Amino acid sequence: MGSPLHVVLPEVFEENIASLRTAFAETGADVDVYFAKKANKAGCFVSAASALDAGIDVASAPELVQALAGGVPGHRIGVSGPEKDDALHSLAVQHSCSVAIDSISELRRLATTAQRARRRVRVLLRCRTAGQPGSRFGMVSAELDAAVDLCVGLSEHVWFQGFSFHLNGYSPQERATAANEMIEHCLEARRRGARSADVVDIGGGLPMRYVEPRLWAEFLKRNEPDHYHGTKAAKGFSFYPYGGQSPAQAARTLMNHPVDGTKSLAAKAADNGIRFIVEPGRALLDQAGFTIYRVQQVEDRREADGYAIVTVAGNSLSLSEPWFNTDYLPDPVLLSAEPAADELFPACVAGSTCLENDMVTWRKIGFPRPVRPGDYLVYLNTAGYHMDFLESRFHDAPLPAKAVIRLGEDGPPRWRLDGI
Ligand SMILES: Cc1ncc(COP(=O)(O)O)c(C=O)c1O
Repeated sequence: MGSPLHVVLPEVFEENIASLRTAFAETGADVDVYFAKKANKAGCFVSAASALDAGIDVASAPELVQALAGGVPGHRIGVSGPEKDDALHSLAVQHSCSVAIDSISELRRLATTAQRARRRVRVLLRCRTAGQPGSRFGMVSAELDAAVDLCVGLSEHVWFQGFSFHLNGYSPQERATAANEMIEHCLEARRRGARSADVVDIGGGLPMRYVEPRLWAEFLKRNEPDHYHGTKAAKGFSFYPYGGQSPAQAARTLMNHPVDGTKSLAAKAADNGIRFIVEPGRALLDQAGFTIYRVQQVEDRREADGYAIVTVAGNSLSLSEPWFNTDYLPDPVLLSAEPAADELFPACVAGSTCLENDMVTWRKIGFPRPVRPGDYLVYLNTAGYHMDFLESRFHDAPLPAKAVIRLGEDGPPRWRLDGI
């Protein structure tokens, strides 16, 4: 099936939905979980979400079509993404999806589309939060009152449900503060006549724990520029918080966060008849996939440079992270017939394109034995954004296949190719 090969595990994804639902329920909050489809293109995750009646968050017409084709009913689909075009609006109206609106002009366009279709469309108004006023997404407070009034005036075609927001970063506390602002917006909207305002969409951004916090802290303490190939480290890093809270811990921190003195976000929402939507992408894909590269060649530069360059079949666009000012930090697992050696074998990992920057791992990894052509490197936990976010048909190469594995109740595990 070629190299790299992505393996996806929908049963793990299903367990993640269940444990996130439990974590939120334990806080007393009413939370509806939507999967942010952008985090992985595999169709198996859409059908798994559909089977568990989870919603899907989409940001484009093709994503919406994929969600419908995977069996998700339109009323379980939320459409986000900035300033959506009329074609996407029209699909959303036709299939009774809910739409997060970014501006008053977008609201007017959507209402016109709904009016022409003689339908009523569910709407959330996206706000800029006080904590991130420079965001390019959403409306400021002054625009919100006008948008709410417009929704009330257009209520024949607009079913106003509440508010959403976009927040960069993974802090549950900051997300709780922003969610509290949205509750206040709902209360103000009710005062303005929009009595149906009872939804706060808190977006995604639940952190995921790739490694134990202790190991992560240790790594950060010891991390040095000369641990990396080339000039990568000179530009400085902005690493994902690989050793942060787990999604379930973050869900509890978020909902238990005190917002009015001692009252928790969950309690304030319950007191005011507010329900939440959460749209995790990465967090629902925790351990739901991995990526296998075949080793093509190994150039041993240990004598000259102190480390080798392992070239794999495929490229780093199938891991995405190394193209940002970061690196995919968890060590790949080396599958080799060779026995473990006494000494570590230091090597970085390169892709097989003609790009100088095509490095799958910039960091010099200490492999437990020398790496040989024909060995395999397994990058774990890659389903959340890594495997297909930036994938490319560069050099006319086919896009990597995704093998779906299900363990099932009894019998051996079964596999099939995704999308077939
Ligand atoms: C509107 C919206 N929802 C959900 C997500 C998913 O975020 P994450 O994968 O961090 O959970 C994003 C990420 O960009 C987003 O913009």
